[in-house]
Order: sequence, then C-alpha cells, then structure tokens
Amino acid sequence: METGYAAVAITRLQDYCPPAYLIDSVALDVDIRDGVTTVTSSLSLRRNPVSPESTVMTFNGEGLTLRTLALDDVVLDSSRYRYENDLLTVQGLPATCTLTSVVDIEPENNTALEGLYQSNGMICTQCEAEGFRRITFFPDRPDVLARFTTTVRADKARYPLLLSNGNPVAWGDEKSHGEEGARHWVTWEDPFPKPCYLFALVAGDLACLEDTFVTVSGRKVALRLYAEHRDLDKLDHAMASLKNAMRWDEQTYGREYDLDIYMIVAVSHFNMGAMENKGLNIFNTSCVLAHPATTTDAGFQRVESVVAHEYFHNWSGNRVTCRDWFQLSLKEGFTVFRDQEFSADMHSAAVKRVEDVDFLVNHQFPEDQGPMAHAVRPEKYQKIDNFYTLTIYEKGAEIVRMQYHLLGAENFRKATDHYFEINDGKAVTCDDFVASMEAVSGYDLSQFKRWYSQAGTPILTVTDEYRDGQYHLRFRQHTPATPGQEQKQPLVIPIRLALLDEQGAPCALDAGGNGAAEGEQVVIMDQAEQTVSFNVPAGVTPSLLRGFSAPVVLDYDYSVDQLARLLAYDSDGYCRWNAAQRLYFAALDRLVTETDEADAEAAALVPVLEQVIARSDEDPAQAALLLSLPGEVALGDRHKPLNPASIHRAHSAMKKALGKALQSHWLSLSENLLATELSMDGRAMGRRQLRNLALDFLAAGEHPEAGRLAVELFELPLCMSEELGALRALVHHGLPGADQALTQFADRWQDEALVMDQWFAVQASVPGAHTVEQVSRLLEHPAFDWKTPNRVRALVGTFTNGNPSAFHAENGSGYQLFSAALSRLDAINPQVAARLANGAARLPVLEPGRKALLTERLAEVKKTASGNVVEVLGRILAS
Ligand code: BES
Ligand code: ZN
Repeated sequence: METGYAAVAITRLQDYCPPAYLIDSVALDVDIRDGVTTVTSSLSLRRNPVSPESTVMTFNGEGLTLRTLALDDVVLDSSRYRYENDLLTVQGLPATCTLTSVVDIEPENNTALEGLYQSNGMICTQCEAEGFRRITFFPDRPDVLARFTTTVRADKARYPLLLSNGNPVAWGDEKSHGEEGARHWVTWEDPFPKPCYLFALVAGDLACLEDTFVTVSGRKVALRLYAEHRDLDKLDHAMASLKNAMRWDEQTYGREYDLDIYMIVAVSHFNMGAMENKGLNIFNTSCVLAHPATTTDAGFQRVESVVAHEYFHNWSGNRVTCRDWFQLSLKEGFTVFRDQEFSADMHSAAVKRVEDVDFLVNHQFPEDQGPMAHAVRPEKYQKIDNFYTLTIYEKGAEIVRMQYHLLGAENFRKATDHYFEINDGKAVTCDDFVASMEAVSGYDLSQFKRWYSQAGTPILTVTDEYRDGQYHLRFRQHTPATPGQEQKQPLVIPIRLALLDEQGAPCALDAGGNGAAEGEQVVIMDQAEQTVSFNVPAGVTPSLLRGFSAPVVLDYDYSVDQLARLLAYDSDGYCRWNAAQRLYFAALDRLVTETDEADAEAAALVPVLEQVIARSDEDPAQAALLLSLPGEVALGDRHKPLNPASIHRAHSAMKKALGKALQSHWLSLSENLLATELSMDGRAMGRRQLRNLALDFLAAGEHPEAGRLAVELFELPLCMSEELGALRALVHHGLPGADQALTQFADRWQDEALVMDQWFAVQASVPGAHTVEQVSRLLEHPAFDWKTPNRVRALVGTFTNGNPSAFHAENGSGYQLFSAALSRLDAINPQVAARLANGAARLPVLEPGRKALLTERLAEVKKTASGNVVEVLGRILAS
C-alpha cells in the first residue's frame, strides 16, 4: 500500500501559455517484448513563432525508464537535460532540431489502464487525456498537433495483428535472432496532424468483421471491427450503427470521412466507454459487442450511440480539437448533442428526448447542486480525468442544443460548416464555437456564453395570473451559489411554451419568431425577472419548457388537474413525462413525511394512469417512461436532511400500492406483451420495456401470478432483455425460485463477461440494508476481479450509486464496504477509483448520524489516496 502522494498541483485556465516549440512530425518505434516494451521516438521540433526567444522545451514523461536521449543524432550529455517530477526539460535547443529518445515501459504491469497496457493478452493504448506521457516523452497537451508515423514490432504468433492510426505503409518480418520466435513489424502513417491524446496502438490476435462504406464523394472506406475470436458474432450491430452514423453525418452536417480505413477494437479492460483515436477507435467491449442473446435492448441502444459518438468525433474533436482541457466540452458537449440527435433520427425522437432529459435531471442536476459543481468550462482542476463529468457532457450538450434552437436548423448548419471550415486542423476554444454561431446569425451571444462559465442549475420560478382580460406569466430566474462561485448573473433562458385550454387544446399564440412551432411561443428570457402577457381565455394550463428548452429547474405550482390535463393532452413528450413525474413526486413526498397513506395516494393516481395504460399501444416505450416511478435517489434529493431509509420506505410502499391498485392491468400487460418471436426493432424493444415494468409492478403488488410469469420468462427467454427482466423481478422481489435462477444464470453465462456483469449488478441493486452482506460475499466470488473496471462498476458501482437503502445502511456497514473497496481499487486504478468516490457526494445533505459515519470513513481513505481520489474526496469533505 502506498504511503501517500505529493500534493497535486492546480492547473488554471488563466495560466494558458502556448508551447515554446511545435512538433511537425513524430516517428515512433514500439518494440513489444515480454516484460518490457522499448519505445523510440524522434520528434521534429520547430520553435513556435509566438515565442521566438525560446531555447528550452519541456516534455511530459511519467514512469519512463530513459535509455538514451539525442539531439540531432548526438547523444545528449546529462547536463543538457533534467528528468524530474514527470517532466523532461531540454536546454539549448536550436530553432529546428530532432530530439530522439529511447525509453522502456512495462505494459504488463500497468493496472491504471492509461498509456500502453495489456488486456486479455492483447496490448492496447488509452491516451486521453494525459496517457501518452506514459508511453514516451512528449508535450502532452492538445494544442501540439503532429504527423505520426508508427512502427510496431512484436512476436508474430502472439500478436499477428499490429495496428496504429492512419494507413499501413510498410510491413515485414524481422530477421530472426537465434532463439526468439518469428517477429514481425508494421509501419502506419497518419496523414492528419493530431494531438497525442488521439494516438492509438493495438497488438493482438483478434477476429475481424470487415465491410466497406462508400462516401458521398465516392471514396471507398474499409471498415474493420476487431474483437476476440469468440466475440466475432457480436459485431454486426456495431457495424450497422457505424454505417448509419457515417451516412447521417454526411447528410446532417455535410461531414465526410477522411481516411481509407476506419477501425474499432473491442477491449475488456477499459476505464471509460470508448475512445475516438484517429482511424483506430478503442472501445470497452460493453459499448461495441451486441447480440440479442447476451445484450439487453438498452445495451443495443448504447452501442449504437457510442459507436456514433466516437465516429462523430472525427470532425468534432479530431479535425477540430481543443486548445486545452478546459475546453473539453467543445468536443464532448457538441458530440453528445450530435449523438443524441442521431439516435433521435434513428428511432423515436420524443422518447429519446425524455430519456436524455431524465438522465440530465437525475444525474447532472445533482452534480451541479453538490460539492462537485463546476462550470462547463471550468477555471481550474487538479486531475483532468476527474472533469469528464456529466456537466461537461450533458449540460454541455444542452448548451449546444440551445444554440441550435436559437439559430434554427438552417443557420445552425451554416454555423457548424463555418466552424469546421475555419478551424480545420486547429486546436480551438468554446469561444471559437460560439463565434461561428454569431458570425452566421448576426446575434450577440456574449450574455449567452455565461452558460459556459457559470456553474449551478438555475431555478426558474413561474407565477401566473389572469388580469384585465389577459393571461400574464411572470418569470424569475435565480442560480444558487456553488463552491467557489458565490455571485451569479442572469442567463439567457429560452422558454418554449404553449397554453392549453380547458379541453387540453393549444391556444393560438403569436409565434413571434425564435423557432416557435404552431401553437407555441419561445420567450427568450435574459433578465432576472420578466413578464409576458397573452390574449387567451381564462383557465389555461401553461405547458412550459417544451422539449426541455433550457437546463433549468422549473418551479411552478401546478394543480393536480393541470398535471392530469398535460399528461393526457400535451403534444410535447417531455411535458407529458414531466407532468407524470410531478404527480408521482407529490404523492411520494407526502408518503415520506406522512406514511401509511400509500393506498389512498395510489387510488388518486389510478384514473390518470389508466388513461396512459389505455393508450400504451400507441407507443409502448413512451408508456413505459410515463409509468416509471422516479427512483429512490431522485426522491431522496428532495428531502433534506437525507434519510435514505425513510425514502426507501415511502418508495416501496408507493410501488406496492400501485402494484395492487392496477394489478389487473399489470397482469394483462405482462401476459399480452409476451412476444412469440424475436425482433430487435424499436417497437419490439418498447413492448419488452413495458412488459418488464408491468412484471415489476405485479411482483411489487405481491400478485400470486408474478412468480409463475417470471419463472416462465426466465426459462424460455427470446433475448437477454427478457431473461434479465425476469431474473430481476425474481431476485428483487425475493420470489420463489430466485436463488435457483441466479445459480442457473451464472452457470449458463459464466464465460460471458458482460452478462456476468449484469449478474453482479442485479444482486448489488436489491434494495435494503441486508444487501451489504451479499455484496461483501460477492467481492469474494471467484468471478469478481478488482482489475476489471466493468466488474468493479457492476458490483461496487451499482451498490454505491444505485442502491441507496443498502449503501446508506444505518449502522454504517455500507460505508465500511465502500471505503475499503475505494482504497483497494485506488491502489490499482486511480481513475476508476475517483469515479467511484463520487458516489459519496451526498455527504453534506445526509442526516447527522450517517454523515458522521461516512465522514470518518472518507477522511481515513483520503490519507493514503491517489491524487485523483484526493481531489474528489477533498471537495466532498470540504462542503
Ligand atoms: N473521449 C471520450 C473518451 C475518454 C473520456 C477518454 C475520458 C479518456 C478520458 C469519448 O469520446 C467519450 O466521450 N466516451 C464516453 C461515451 C460517449 C457515448 C459519451 C464514455 O467513454 O463514457
Ligand atoms: Zn466523446
């Protein structure tokens, strides 16, 4: 165990300085041998014209064993350079020169999974954000773009496949050296200058699914998806998704692919979901492999959107990249917006929007309201890995979406064309993005840009009155203080609205521009307070923030009748869903404080929910969303101080009461939606989703048929969504046969890692304090492995983030398990540990007993933690 780390330096946006030298080209030679890999790099340096006086340059390097360093082929005397604190400083450099270094690294011992590492016998890379410095010396910053030529050498039998970015230009066998087996090499050339975070290399023995794509201008691109041989049959969906994404980006953004080859490699050990390396994406197996027998419907959709996301980065990220990591949302927020729109176009746009908003409000909003709150363009960080957050991604996407709506589809497209054209091959900032929006539209977006710099979720308070024959809506905005940002300024908030009359029909409104559709108006709020008046009859119901037009908390005191009207008649999918959520929350809130009234609360909801069920055949996926209760975590966030046990009590009482009150509906949905043959289209997926939901309610209501239905489905599933839905119902409701099903499932799927992840997750999410013990036991299960992030996330991550009544067990046993796991993981993989540490972010709002217990645990972990974990725990403990 480590005995503590040095204090972590703070990096600040205001300190940005361009590099002293630029790098025109890099020649890498990566010689992979057992135990040690030798990397030779030749950097062609050129003094940066903006710093004409420079003769000194620094290069990042972490954990490198330096063999030799030469300048223009002359070995450098040790007085000319220093390598300390992960920095190599070389003095006395001429205006142009070549710096050659030879270093040794050990991918076999790299459990942090950053830089070059081994996964199931293959060798691969992960360089974003700052992993390249673990491979060789380099200015590891996104504003240094270089042309890479990479030669990979390795044993031919163990690593028949040697890949890097770009196109293969030369290959051959190494002349044999006595004992050693036959070795070979391949040289790859990437014609596009790129920052080193986009570098990739793979060596292994992999199966390949190959296809071609003809671009809009008629160029033929080879598409190659690689995975372990046993997974070759799980690549078709990713391939189809890739081709759809390529076509969509041509049609929607006019973006064509630019190399002759596009490769994706699936690896089992990966810290994130996937990575957009130029021409050679590397993916977590969980985000690329898909087969109906082993992958849930949600898994299929995830693969489609991640494949698209990484493909879209080829323009929004690679061709135009970030100047520094403070601009991360420039590529991530924009690319998330692009992948969201892609998925919306491929399937149901209304359902997709609700899913995205649900995710944002239930995950990004809490982040923005807790100790980790930060701006979409932060001002400082300790570890950039900790800033790949929901705020950068999801709120960043909302900021791009608002610009899309402000400009309208046509101008937005002109703006992105302009952005790609003038910034191609450059490393730019969020300001450059907005500047293109301004350039084509003529709008002044300077106030709008506060969305990038101001942290926190604005609260939009709306009141209304009918006066002098007019309906008046009064808007007030207020953003609560966040850590380090006390004062907040008014933001530009686009409020898309409609007014429904007493029959639920939209009143005619003066559209007044701003992209409003018929029956809608878009109010662009830019003051702390504004009032808008309408000539409509009395008794209207305001349908506010349609499409979730801005990422704000809406505070309007809806009556139950108004919510019922919105849920029944609103044409906006988001507003219907939001109305349902408000009805559920109101009932649940009362149960948290008043208890024992669950049956009455459920009875009051029955008429509205019966309407939803009656229409469920129109769009089963949408019905499933409307019928889903908010989770315990979301409910808990409305009650301070937080006592997760009373939240759990209220939540399960409500679920049980609804299960009973609507039981005949749940039963018929469970039976009637049963498919007889497998289909993977959107409608079939929606039906399965609704069916699983019905089964869950049926079991919650203790219906005698629930067990039989679940066992039947479990025994003869058509696909993993059915099998897992049945298993979850059995296990979460403790139905007869649950233990047997778990055993059977593990026997059936022991060789399928991604399915076994689900097996761990199902058990880790059983509500109730007793689950702590079960999770402890599972940590000792032979299939559990601390070195596989997917497995750790499935068990410990699910327990921490998805099971509040267990994690927050009153006796502190959940905290004990969590803190021990955190320390253990941190010693292996600090990045993944720091993400797990975020699970403690609700510390400040916990009731005093739990707060004291958790504080003590976290303080203890922090003493010996890595820089990554120290930053996260430091923020949490300081709040
Ligand atoms: N560039 C990221 C991957 C990444 C993130 C690498 C952090 C290193 C550190 C990639 O484009 C990405 O955003 N991946 C997401 C999935 C995506 C669909 C939002 C991920 O990995 O979760
Ligand atoms: Zn991304």
